[in-house]
Amino acid sequence: MNPAKRRTVIAGNWKMNFTPAEAKKFIKAVTPLVAGKDNCDIIFCAPYVTIDAAMKAAKGTNIKIGAENVHFAPKGAYTGEVSADMLKAIGVEYVIIGHSERRQYFGETDETVNLRTKAALEAGMKVILCLGEVKEQRLAGITDEVVGMQTKLDLAGITAEQMKNIIIAYEPVWAIGTGLTATPEQAEETCAVIRKVVASIYGKEVAEATTIQYGGSMNDKNAAELLKKDDVDGGLIGGASLVPEKFAAIVDAAQ
Ligand code: PGA
Repeated sequence: MNPAKRRTVIAGNWKMNFTPAEAKKFIKAVTPLVAGKDNCDIIFCAPYVTIDAAMKAAKGTNIKIGAENVHFAPKGAYTGEVSADMLKAIGVEYVIIGHSERRQYFGETDETVNLRTKAALEAGMKVILCLGEVKEQRLAGITDEVVGMQTKLDLAGITAEQMKNIIIAYEPVWAIGTGLTATPEQAEETCAVIRKVVASIYGKEVAEATTIQYGGSMNDKNAAELLKKDDVDGGLIGGASLVPEKFAAIVDAAQ
């Protein structure tokens, strides 16, 4: 991370975990552990039905609550989906878009990721945009091409001004939930590639100001080494975001 240039962001992705009561209990437990840790933004992205309880529990703390997805249409016949305006109406500021589980299990493509991102930005939300290569692509030596292509497609039509509201999460798919973490060098290298692609679209100034997180089995043990790297501006954390002490240790590593 490089706090002189850009904001460090430590975000939890709860995925399909926590009922409202469990979320409330978790927030109460994690609040004192992260209080005053102001060198990074702290966000938990929650299932839709849990957001309200989590927000109420986090009120007045340094914890922000986000969503895990959003639809691109403002309203209409999209059964099971939730619009950006609906999220804004209940005060949600952040949303994860393009997580690899959405791409893998729910047919998300770079095109729908791009549409969702635009809709969220237009509604005034901040987006955690996820991308990353699968194992076969890394083994084939095409990681840079894959993340470069995803970066360009996912950001298509998004302005330099809107980039202020984009956080990119580099998440190698082979590292998510597997216990396999990218080495700090691999994380640094690929985050730097993404930054270079952002620079090629928007110029160096925008690229240097963009927060690029690493995600994929980040935990209390490996966070410090990963966050030491200049281009790794935070973490998107799944498993370890469900345990207050583990998550708080990652926040500590970012101080
Ligand atoms: P993990 O998940 O930390 O459990 O690997 C990260 C993510 O999916 O964002």
